[in-house]
Amino acid sequence: MADLTTDFLGIKSPNPFWLASAPPTDKEYNVRRAFDAGWGGVVWKTLGAEGPPVVNVNGPRYGAIYGADRRLLGLNNIELITDRPLETNLEEMTRVKKDYPDHALIASIMVPCDEESWRAILPRVTETNADGIELNFGCPHGMSERGMGSAVGQVPEYIQMVTEWCKKYYDRPVIVKLTPNITDIRKPAAAAKAGGADAVSLINTINSITGVDLDNFAPMPTIDGKGSHGGYCGPAVKPIAMSMVSEIARGEDTRGLPISGIGGITTWRDAAEFMALGCGNVQVCTAAMTYGFRIVEEMKRGLSAWMDEKGYTSTADFVGKAVPNVTDWQYLNLNYVTKARIDQDACIKCGRCYAACEDTSHQAIAMKEGRVFEVIDEECVACNLCVDVCPVEDCITMERLAAGTTDPRTGKVVQDEYANWTTHPNNPMAKAAE
Ligand SMILES: Cc1cc2nc3c(=O)[nH]c(=O)nc-3n(C[C@H](O)[C@H](O)[C@H](O)COP(=O)(O)O)c2cc1C
Ligand code: SF4
Ligand code: SF4
Repeated sequence: MADLTTDFLGIKSPNPFWLASAPPTDKEYNVRRAFDAGWGGVVWKTLGAEGPPVVNVNGPRYGAIYGADRRLLGLNNIELITDRPLETNLEEMTRVKKDYPDHALIASIMVPCDEESWRAILPRVTETNADGIELNFGCPHGMSERGMGSAVGQVPEYIQMVTEWCKKYYDRPVIVKLTPNITDIRKPAAAAKAGGADAVSLINTINSITGVDLDNFAPMPTIDGKGSHGGYCGPAVKPIAMSMVSEIARGEDTRGLPISGIGGITTWRDAAEFMALGCGNVQVCTAAMTYGFRIVEEMKRGLSAWMDEKGYTSTADFVGKAVPNVTDWQYLNLNYVTKARIDQDACIKCGRCYAACEDTSHQAIAMKEGRVFEVIDEECVACNLCVDVCPVEDCITMERLAAGTTDPRTGKVVQDEYANWTTHPNNPMAKAAE
């Protein structure tokens, strides 16, 4: 079985699966059970400053988006940071770290954006013997209105400033957790790096309203007739998170900065994808909240089996392997020509591909007698829509036309060599051919 032990910023953990800062890591009881269930590390539920803890709403704090089978696809929350006293959390963290020295324990922190607040809390976190800290510059609700969370994460200068304070008053790894509620994720990541961050983690939750109650005309979850935007997470956010991760992994100013990947990770495959895009480890929240702690067993088993199959002996063997293949549109090979192919034996004759292509794509699927659906190569632009809407996996596939054959749609012979938009004759900005 492949070795899943991970070294992230010098922090060792038995596997790359950490629980993200959230209800699963809210207290000692949860974290002990999580470690016993097999999680490699936890980022403790975000700590606030000394004094009276924050107060959560007493009505519903979550909302959800479902698939047709009521599988939870997206979760929205209006929960704040920990609502338990700082002292209680610190005592519990100290006990847990002592009893689980080989598991990663990170303290997530959100205190006011002034040096004194950070200087006050950091020595106390050091005393817990936590392996590092994660700066919560991400939460988009409740705390941001008080000048914390994403209110800091949206201003690169603040990120850099607070990170510098943390590096000054804390001598273990500092991870900066980024908000996705920003236009260009590379800017806050670069600011974290400039401030001396050891790593970034992303994404925190995305601003969202999951639904409107059409009887009361109030956003859901509804608290006494009113609702407020919350933070969106779960499987639905994974594509957004992976795109942001990849931008940091390949960004000129951020390349090489270690990344902890977060956002919709539910299976070992999700985790492997984030890691291939450059994440040294991953963090999970919604999947644990939906299925319980034991979901990690399947994650570990699956990742390990896949690594065995591929001949990877350590996670470091595949971390970042997909990064060189992430490129900008103008560098995609325009000589890569494909056509849709329908497997008639697999087809259940539902007609979805026909409706989609006929009404909204290129009228490239013919419906013949007996509901036999066939691709018309002369019309097919290879958009992939039929593949995406077909309910039968692998029933429609895209087949590459060999070099030297003629594309019946364009009448042009398919060329073997790579050619992209930067040199295309239709591009007014095309570089002159050398
Ligand atoms: C109910 C809830 C509470 C959360 N609280 C925190 C928090 O206190 N600190 C924090 O950094 N992130 C918090 N998060 C965000 C998660 O740590 C994570 O970044 C986000 O949920 C995306 O991961 P996921 O798709 O696996 O859930 C919270 C998420 C949820 C659902
Ligand atoms: S790939 Fe696009 S154009 Fe071709 S058959 Fe499918 S939907 Fe139509
Ligand atoms: S969508 Fe798929 S299953 Fe349905 S008719 Fe088209 S090829 Fe057949």
